[in-house]
Amino acid sequence: MIAAPLPLPDDAAREHSARVVERVREEIAQAGGFIAFTRYMEIVLYEPALGYYVAGARKFGGSGDFITGPELSTLYGAALARQLQAILEATGAKRIVELGAGSGALAASILNSLARRGAAPDAYSILEVSPDLRERQRATLATAAPGEAARVDWLDRLPEGIDGVVVMNEVLDALAPRLLARRGGAWHERGVTWKDGSLGWDERPLADSRLLAIAGARFPAEGDYVSEINPAAEALVATLARRLGSGALVIVDYGFPQAEYYHPQRREGTLMGHYRHRSHADPFLWPGLSDLTAHVDFTAVARAAERAGMEVAGFATQASFLLGCGILDLLAATGAPDSLAYLREAAAVQKLVSPAEMGELFKVLLLARGDAAWSSLAIADMTHRL
Ligand SMILES: C[S@@+](CC[C@H](N)C(=O)[O-])C[C@H]1O[C@@H](n2cnc3c(N)ncnc32)[C@H](O)[C@@H]1O
Repeated sequence: MIAAPLPLPDDAAREHSARVVERVREEIAQAGGFIAFTRYMEIVLYEPALGYYVAGARKFGGSGDFITGPELSTLYGAALARQLQAILEATGAKRIVELGAGSGALAASILNSLARRGAAPDAYSILEVSPDLRERQRATLATAAPGEAARVDWLDRLPEGIDGVVVMNEVLDALAPRLLARRGGAWHERGVTWKDGSLGWDERPLADSRLLAIAGARFPAEGDYVSEINPAAEALVATLARRLGSGALVIVDYGFPQAEYYHPQRREGTLMGHYRHRSHADPFLWPGLSDLTAHVDFTAVARAAERAGMEVAGFATQASFLLGCGILDLLAATGAPDSLAYLREAAAVQKLVSPAEMGELFKVLLLARGDAAWSSLAIADMTHRL
C-alpha cells in the first residue's frame, strides 16, 4: 500500500505552529541547548494559548485528528454506564468524576443512559486541563444531554477526598512520558535541540538514579533499546487512589501489560503522532497541530494504585469489557437490523470490539477499594498478565 501524503495545514494553522516552535526554541536556548522530551511534549500539547489541547484545534471527531470510543457511538458510553451503575449501587457512591472529558461525548452518553435506567448520579464532575475543551464539553452537554446538564460541574483541581467513580478514557496516553535509551550499555534521556534552523532529537547521559532503577527493571536485559516510562501517569493514578474513599477507578486506554510493552522486539517504544486521522512517527511534525501520545504501561499503573492502597478488580480487553457490559443488547435495541440507524451503530460497535481495530489494543483496568463483586470482567479477566 502506498501511503498518501499528510494534508497541509492552512496559513493560519502554519503560523500558529511557527509560534509553538518559537516557544520551544526559546526554552531550549534558556536551558543551554537541550530540553527533555517530556518537557517538549508538555509545551506542544498544553502550553497556555499554544498547545494542541488548549489552543482551539478541532482534535476529536470526523473533522479532527482522531476518533475515540465515545466519539464513535453513544453505545460506548451506554455500555460503560452499566458498569458504573453497578459500582455506584455496590459502593453507595453518588458521584462520577471524569478526567479529561474531551468533547463531552462520554459524559453526555453516560448521563443519558443512567437517567434512562433511573440511576442518575447526584453529581457528574469533570476535571479538564483545557479551557477550550471545557467550553466544548458545556456545549455538547447542553445539546446532547439537556435534561442532565445541571448535574455537571467542572473542577479546577482534584478534590482532597473523592467518594465516587473516577473515569478516564484515553487520558493517561496524553500525559508526557520520559523517553529513555540504552545504547551500547549506556543510558541516555532523549530530548530536543535546535539545530540548523529546526527542532531535532538529541540525548543526554541519564543520571537520575530513580529513573535508572525503573528503566533497568523494565527494559529487556540486553541490547540497544529505546522506550518510555511515564512517572506522570503513575503519579496521577497514585494520587487518585490515595484520595478515593468509597468508589472505584475505571481506566480505558491503549496499551499493554509490562512484559508486552517492553518486549525485546519493541525496540523503538510507542511514541506516536496523530494528525488528521493519520498516525505518524515524527514528533516534530506541525508542533501544536498534531497530537502526541505514548501507550499505557498497565502494569506500572496497577502497581502504583496498589502501593496507594487499591486493588485490581479486573483487567481485560475493551472488546471483552464492552461485550460483558452488554453492548450487543444495546445495539439490538437501536432498531430493525436493516434500518440505517442499526447499520450505522453496528459499524461503530464493530470498530470498538474488533481485534483488528480497537478491541484488543485498548484495555480496561478496574481498580477497587476492597471487595469488587461489581466487576463485569469476571469471565474475561486477565489480571494475571499484569
Ligand atoms: C486524548 S484526549 C481524550 C478525550 C476523551 N476522554 C475521549 O475519550 O474522547 C485526552 C484528554 O485528557 C485531557 N487531559 C490531559 N491531561 C490531563 C490531566 N492531567 N487531568 C485531566 N485531564 C487531562 C486533555 O485535555 C483531553 O481532554
